[in-house]
Amino acid sequence: MTGAGKTAYLALVKLLSASYIISSPSVEKCPAPAMPEFAFIGRSNVGKSSLINLITSNRQLAKTSASPGKTQLINHFLIKSEVSSAKSVQWYLVDLPGYGYAQVSQGTRKQWKKMIEQYIRQRTNLKLLFVLIDIRHRPQALDLEFINQLGAWSIPLLLVFTKSDQITQREAAASVKSFMESLEKHWDEMPGYVVTSSAKGRGRKELLGIIEEQLMLSNTNV
Ligand code: GTP
Ligand code: MG
Repeated sequence: MTGAGKTAYLALVKLLSASYIISSPSVEKCPAPAMPEFAFIGRSNVGKSSLINLITSNRQLAKTSASPGKTQLINHFLIKSEVSSAKSVQWYLVDLPGYGYAQVSQGTRKQWKKMIEQYIRQRTNLKLLFVLIDIRHRPQALDLEFINQLGAWSIPLLLVFTKSDQITQREAAASVKSFMESLEKHWDEMPGYVVTSSAKGRGRKELLGIIEEQLMLSNTNV
């Protein structure tokens, strides 16, 4: 995993197609883990589905909503792309439900938590988990605890700050600094991060570059 600091890769990957495959209520029901996979997690309403649409340049692909709790299942999207080797590669993007959504019953929340945890810990083809953080807020205990838990489970992750169009560049830099400082005491090698805005199309190239790097490492050409 990339070390501390802002990650900057130039994407050479060319997307050929992106299509919705299936929504699954548990990791057991997900498609066979035959291709590299990249998943998006974070609090409800942080912008997970919007980011999938940004990456695939398709506003209709993942369902987004102004009210939290929109995504409730594990959603698989199949992406076909060409990388620098000019070989065609297939991989999955996965839209997950948000954590910490207060407006559903305790039972439902518990069930989502279990579904997310089992997915994260058991999905063998998961190459990288994108953990989304709303850049407008001070570091939140729920996010920090979740990320520290991922570290304890040794899950490869990248921090993705969202909604950067809502604040100034200076505020964004301060927010990132403050978040990384809050994590620092728990981490020997800090996870990498990318600052994004789905509204302004910010961060797409970096994210695609990181995905491409992982695809080349996993070398699963089809
Ligand atoms: P759940 O599925 O409910 O957990 O939410 P989610 O994390 O998938 O969020 P979603 O992509 O549905 O976005 C939630 C709201 O935030 C929508 O109204 C989006 O239009 C808005 N939004 C997402 N990304 C951005 C962004 O980069 N900038 C701005 N200004 N709004 C954003
Ligand atoms: Mg969603």
